[in-house]
Amino acid sequence: MKTAKIRNIGVVGAGNMGHQIALLAALSGFKTTCTDISEEALKKAESFADKYLPERVAKGKLTQEAAEQARRNISFTSSLEEAVKDADFVIEAATEKLDLKRKIFASLDKLAPPHAILATNSSFIVSSMVANATARPAKICNMHFFNPALVMRLVEVVKGPHTAPETADVTVELCKAMGKLPVLLKKEIYGFLVNRVLMALTNEALYLLDQGIADAEEIDLAITNALGHPMGPFRLMDLTGVDLTYHICMERYRETGNPADKPSPTVVEMYARGEWGQKKGKGFYQYQK
Ligand code: CAA
Repeated sequence: MKTAKIRNIGVVGAGNMGHQIALLAALSGFKTTCTDISEEALKKAESFADKYLPERVAKGKLTQEAAEQARRNISFTSSLEEAVKDADFVIEAATEKLDLKRKIFASLDKLAPPHAILATNSSFIVSSMVANATARPAKICNMHFFNPALVMRLVEVVKGPHTAPETADVTVELCKAMGKLPVLLKKEIYGFLVNRVLMALTNEALYLLDQGIADAEEIDLAITNALGHPMGPFRLMDLTGVDLTYHICMERYRETGNPADKPSPTVVEMYARGEWGQKKGKGFYQYQK
């Protein structure tokens, strides 16, 4: 399948990443259907589109016509079947739980057309962990966007041993058609490129916090001003979700059994208290709902 043949995109998951990936696809001219088991998440995703598009027009970043076309291009449904039955390409952006992803991929394999490529937006999980839940491993790969997906240019495309070269090529071309800058990883590695580096930084920042060396604001201030990052690791965790950090560490710990992979005490406590960052109004910082 050539990228030019892609007309319909299904996005599974309307959360932090899925709602923006879906809108990006719609803005890039693809008929996009976004699905989630949570009606609330779908409503939020739809309201986001209804607010974001006119705001872009008001800012002079988008024409009225392009905004209207994008709105026509995107739809929302709680039916997985409805979302992927005509899809040429599916992007899974569900919660970072391997069992769940394997179930989703097994269903996608049954519900999506046989020619469809099934990509996972997982931040860490390599696609070989889900490919064998399907009968089409050659059409499975990682396509990893960064948060906020409408803004961040980079996308990591990761080719697994099962991934056909054509699948990787089409995915790279699709990233470009969405205005993104793809990097192709020729081999699978847990966490890919960016999150391996980011987690090293974040773990060290959490260690310094847990040791009482400095508080979150001071560490963020140091990193933004010394290294020129647009956000420090704590502000960034609030954006990507403290729950995401928790799930990523727990998945890794389950896999390796190495206590060093467990989430830091601060992350465990914040996860239990529901202080998951911007989406909850409280994380390392306070936010207006
Ligand atoms: N959704 C959509 N657009 C957003 C946005 C959001 N949540 N936040 C900001 N923007 C847009 C704004 O509309 C604005 O667009 P225009 O310039 O076209 O008008 C632009 O981004 C800049 O926004 P602001 O001026 O309000 O704020 P800023 O300059 O501080 O930028 C930021 C905000 C883009 C988030 C910037 O702080 C940044 O780049 N932060 C680092 C983000 C980052 O590192 N992301 C990677 C996270 S790691 C990850 O994602 C891994 C994973 O696996 C989950």
